[in-house]
Amino acid sequence: MEVKNKAAVVTGAGSGIGRGISLALAKAGADVMVVDIDLASAQKVADEVRALGRKAHAARCDVADPAAVEQLADAAFLQFPNLALVFNNAGVVATGMALDMTEKDLQWTFGVNVFGVWHGSTAFARRFIERQVKAWICNTCSENGLGQASIGTAIYTAAKHAVLGMTDALRSEYGDRLGFSVICPGIVKTGMWNAGRNRPEKFGGQFEGNPINQKAMNYGISPEDAGRHIVDAVCQEEFYIFTHAHVAAIAEKRWQEIDAAMRRQQSQIDAGSYSTIEIQSKVMAEFAAATAAPNRSHP
Ligand SMILES: NC(=O)c1ccc[n+]([C@@H]2O[C@H](COP(=O)([O-])OP(=O)(O)OC[C@H]3O[C@@H](n4cnc5c(N)ncnc54)[C@H](O)[C@@H]3O)[C@@H](O)[C@H]2O)c1
Repeated sequence: MEVKNKAAVVTGAGSGIGRGISLALAKAGADVMVVDIDLASAQKVADEVRALGRKAHAARCDVADPAAVEQLADAAFLQFPNLALVFNNAGVVATGMALDMTEKDLQWTFGVNVFGVWHGSTAFARRFIERQVKAWICNTCSENGLGQASIGTAIYTAAKHAVLGMTDALRSEYGDRLGFSVICPGIVKTGMWNAGRNRPEKFGGQFEGNPINQKAMNYGISPEDAGRHIVDAVCQEEFYIFTHAHVAAIAEKRWQEIDAAMRRQQSQIDAGSYSTIEIQSKVMAEFAAATAAPNRSHP
């Protein structure tokens, strides 16, 4: 996917990885619609993009709100007729042991990380397909979506699995018309330890992040490096995008556990089972044959 002279929408772009992606896009010759729930931070990043010689427009949008994302999509096409990339990157985390988490923690985390990615993917995919633009949709997942189940992140981990699942399913359904990527970073030094700074009132309002998480994030790679790896990988049309080498070992460990369990259960399970894909095509063929056959009940 060539990004030069194209435009991109980046959500959660006022800080961290979204800012890193925006700057890397600008350096690669793309214009950027810098989107965040915090407009002031988006405006600062838009200034940085302009300083790199590309067009930028800052917009406020709460990605958890489907109507706001629809409006954003309409505005983005008006602002940038060359729009061809969307990074559904906005994400939040509320940490704590699973049994201590509240319903609001669940709603907020899924609202931004899952519903937000769904809203952005579908609102933009629909418009790209209508306009017949061969565009690219990149959804920010995490190493937590591939098997990293760190203590204190159960809701976040569940949400990131949903991001991987929905992006893979969208690729199956629309991959002939659009490109898709799923970004799976390890730790990046961003403001995510303090994600509660932007939690809306309806989800419980602002809260102070845990300084231990901040210390951990200081060991992460820089958002600028992450953004550069991500944009390079989109240019190479990768589906899985990595920023850290160790993430392969996480996925490998999961696969080894699945493989070992499958081998242990081999003698008990149905060896001749059809795969879901085989069943889908059999049922479709049976349905097509039945509907093509003359209807004998009404001579
Ligand atoms: N930092 C890491 O170590 C790491 C690792 C893996 C994945 N990620 C993912 O990267 C993405 C970006 O996070 P980050 O680390 O750059 O954090 P960050 O806090 O620095 O940036 C996230 C941005 O999203 C914005 N945001 C929050 N709620 C929003 C909403 N409802 N609508 C629109 N914008 C909203 C915030 O204002 C903030 O600017 C997230 O999806 C996160 O889960 C981060």
